[in-house]
Order: sequence, then C-alpha cells, then structure tokens
Amino acid sequence: MTDLLLLPGDGIGPEVTAQVRRVAERLTPDLSIEERAFGGASYDAHGAPLTDETLAAAKAARAVLMGAVGGPQWAGVARDKRPEAGLLALRAGMEVFANLRPALCFGPLADASSLKRELVEGLDLMFVRELTGGIYFGQPRFIEDLPGGGKRAVDTQVYTTAEIERVARVAFELARKRRGKVHSAEKSNVMDSGLLWREVVTDLHRREYADVTLEHILADNAAMQIVKNPKQFDVIVTDNLFGDILSDEAAQLTGSLGMLPSAALGAEGKPGLYEPIHGSAPDIAGQGLANPLAAILSFEMALRWSLARPAEADRLFAAVDKALAAGARTRDLGGSLTTAQMGDAVLAEL
Ligand code: IPM
Ligand code: MG
Repeated sequence: MTDLLLLPGDGIGPEVTAQVRRVAERLTPDLSIEERAFGGASYDAHGAPLTDETLAAAKAARAVLMGAVGGPQWAGVARDKRPEAGLLALRAGMEVFANLRPALCFGPLADASSLKRELVEGLDLMFVRELTGGIYFGQPRFIEDLPGGGKRAVDTQVYTTAEIERVARVAFELARKRRGKVHSAEKSNVMDSGLLWREVVTDLHRREYADVTLEHILADNAAMQIVKNPKQFDVIVTDNLFGDILSDEAAQLTGSLGMLPSAALGAEGKPGLYEPIHGSAPDIAGQGLANPLAAILSFEMALRWSLARPAEADRLFAAVDKALAAGARTRDLGGSLTTAQMGDAVLAEL
C-alpha cells in the first residue's frame, strides 16, 4: 500500500510538491511515495484530468497530496475535461466531504499581513468547508441559447440533511479539541438551502453538542467580521462556495496565500486529500518563485490526520516556524528565497 500519493499537477504544483518530497524523505524515510500526473498534465498525457487508474490509486493510498491544477493553456478545453474538473472529481471520488482550512498566523509573519499586527497576531481559526456538495456539484447546470438571442446559465445549490449534518459534526468535534466555539455561516435570509443548513446545524447542536458554543452568522457578515475582528472566531463551518471565498479572504490575514494548507477528510479510516489552498499561479510557474510552505504544511496535516505520525508533524511544524523566525522569506512574503531555498531552510531546521 502506498503511504503518500503525490499529484503535482500544473503550474507551480510540481515545484512545491518537489519540496514536500524532500521533506518527507528526510523526516519520514520509511513512508512509501508514489507520483502521478494530474489535472492539465494528465489531460495532456492521457486525455483526461483524472484517469480511472489515478482515482483508484488515490483511494488505495493512505494520503494524497495535490500541488495545484489549471492554467491558461487549458482554458479552451471542454469543461468536464478541464484540470479543475479533475480536482472536483477527485474530491467527489474520494468522498472527502470535510475540508479543514486553518488560517494560522505565524508570529514572525504578523507584519506580512495587510491587516494591523494586533488584529492577526496569534490568529488561529479553522474553516470547515463542505467539499463534495452544494453549487459545485448540484444539477441541473447548463448554459442554453434563448430564442430571442442571448443565453441563460443555470447552477444549482443543493444540500441534504445528511450532507449538512456530517460536515457540522466534524466542526463540532474539532471545536471540542480547540476553544469550543463554532460559527455556522450561510445565507438563510435569502436561500432555502441556507434555511435548511441553519435548521440541521441547530438540531445537531441541541442533540449532541450542547457543550460547544454555536453562533449562526450570515455569510456576508462573516466576510466583514473576518477582516474586522478575526480572532473572535474558532471554527467556522460553511458550504462549498462560501468556504472557497471566505478561506481565500482569511488567507490574507496570515500574510500570504502561499502559507495555507488544507486537509479534506471523509469517513473514518478513508484516505485524506491534502492541498495547499493556493492555485497553480501560471504567472510565476517554472521560475522557482513559489512559496512551498503551504504544500509542506499540507504534508504536516497529512502526517497528523492520515498517517498517524503526530510527533513528526510537530517537528515539521516547529521547523517551519523556526525557519520563518530565522528570516526565511520567499517573494510572496517580501523576501527573495527561491522555492528550493525555502525547502533548504525547513530541512536545515529539521
Ligand atoms: C480551492 C480552489 C478550487 C475550488 C478550484 C481550483 C476548483 O479554488 O481549492 O479553493 O474552487 O475549490
Ligand atoms: Mg479557492
């Protein structure tokens, strides 16, 4: 059985996952690592962004770590063959419905945020983004021609009780191990799916998690509160689309999108999918400018959540913290280290 399946993907993906491989080979040399083409790279090689073989390998691995997907060269490809479609198919195929996206401000980076130091210093908030439902997957979806000219485009936002309950459960369980507070973000003031979301979360809370503090917040207000007073939050649970948007916003609190890892988890015992939150950054791809820390910290999450190696995860986290404290900075953080040099800095602290 493969311990870690690496899917470098496109753009800066191969550069940042190469640093993960170096870290893994140093920190956990006993782990078996396999690598496969994914996204646009897989489309170019095999005509599909996610082949059946790669999905089967992902489900059979203990953890999967993806770099990034997409780029302008695939913009003209049919939507179901686009690199992003491969990522959605991977998330759905692995049934990783709960996406943990920590927004954590490393002390040495408090001045790299565009927000004031006192707002972000010590920030430790966790998004739990629903990842396999909602408007990303809802049917019907299409663009049609209208008889009188022009077109009509439809996407469908859809959630069931079971989908909301299982992701809310993850949020409540996490909050119990953290600071005991969950904010549930939706738009129940305008959306039926938001109404059901609020109802199901409230009900689960009353039945099983009354010891956790639950607050409902409208997603637009959450967007404002995240930049106004981010430290009021502990865990924020929200749907697929709001989670996508709010987690990018929160990334900026931490200094750079290049810092944020994520873990997508499914049922107990199933492999997790680990991805940096950043995209493929085609504008800087191949130049050694990308920050590998989001990918390296995604590996840290894999060690913790799928590979049962908490001691090594702690060591890796400490090494990243020390490297930053010693002044290691890639360009996104205002420094001049290359991707590989940032990898060197982490290895040196290990
Ligand atoms: C993310 C990304 C993806 C998403 C894209 C690449 C499909 O933005 O992981 O946040 O929208 O989920
Ligand atoms: Mg996103």
